[in-house]
Amino acid sequence: MEIKKVAVLGAGAMGSGIAQVVAQAGYEVWVRDIKEEFIQKGKQTIEKNLRKAVNKGKISLPKYKEITSRLHFTTDMKEAVEDADLVIEAVPEVMDIKKQVFQEVCQLNKKAILASNTSGLSITELAKATDRPERFVGMHFFNPVPVMALVEVIRGEQTNDDTVNAAVEFVKSIGKIPVVVKKDVEGFIVNRCLVPYLVLAIDDVEKGVAEPEEIDAALLYEYKMPMGPLELADFVGLDILYFAGQQWSIVPKSKLLEEKFNNKELGMKTARGFYDWR
Ligand code: CAA
Repeated sequence: MEIKKVAVLGAGAMGSGIAQVVAQAGYEVWVRDIKEEFIQKGKQTIEKNLRKAVNKGKISLPKYKEITSRLHFTTDMKEAVEDADLVIEAVPEVMDIKKQVFQEVCQLNKKAILASNTSGLSITELAKATDRPERFVGMHFFNPVPVMALVEVIRGEQTNDDTVNAAVEFVKSIGKIPVVVKKDVEGFIVNRCLVPYLVLAIDDVEKGVAEPEEIDAALLYEYKMPMGPLELADFVGLDILYFAGQQWSIVPKSKLLEEKFNNKELGMKTARGFYDWR
């Protein structure tokens, strides 16, 4: 099936990033969120990123106009998903919210491939909320989406080969590198390793092993990564790690993470996490 219209559900950091790269690749994209303010924030982020690319000479001004003309923003689910060939869900990392969204989609669209950008919730379980588990797949992008090349394509227990192949081809067509995850395990390939690592660094802070700056510096020095674990935790969002901890069995329990979540110290997005980002 040819993919022409793509609906992206959720205009947060992930949804807006996905919408940007998909529109840059030439697809018509409808971005949907529940509130006008979320839509406006996502739209501004995309336009800022694209303007930066113009200023750096990476895209021309006519190209900028062409890309933005392919992006449509709405709070109306029907408008977003009606006639879509592919729906990519990027709503909060909570199983029930995601299931509810997919149930709504299935009432309005009978043909699209359904994809979830979940960080590690079960694709098989999410697919149960839909009328087409064989055409349901994980499509997991990394933050910041315009920069990170990898996309995990996750096969649920009922996902058929055509759907996996279509997802792989789509990921390639937007200039990203797909890796197929054959077994639907918590956290898939990357977050299965990454999230416990980040939460263990948080545990180091809780136990007073060292200051956040020292933990980050030690791991940066040793492994030459772009960010230490606590800076990366603030970047990814402590809410994302908290939700993972609540819903996956592989993540160590952390009181400090729960405290930060309850205090709305969620990292860069709230300007406060393990570091002060103001
Ligand atoms: N959106 C778009 N572009 C961005 C960006 C953003 N949010 N942040 C940085 N960039 C671009 C910059 O514009 C710059 O582009 P050019 O090369 O065209 O100039 C480029 O990225 C490099 O940025 P900077 O020079 O400003 O800064 P940097 O070299 O420190 O890189 C970074 C910033 C790319 C974020 C880098 O620190 C990095 O790779 N960090 C680790 C990110 C990571 O591990 N992400 C995965 C998180 S896990 C996840 O997402 C999965 C999950 O489910 C939890």
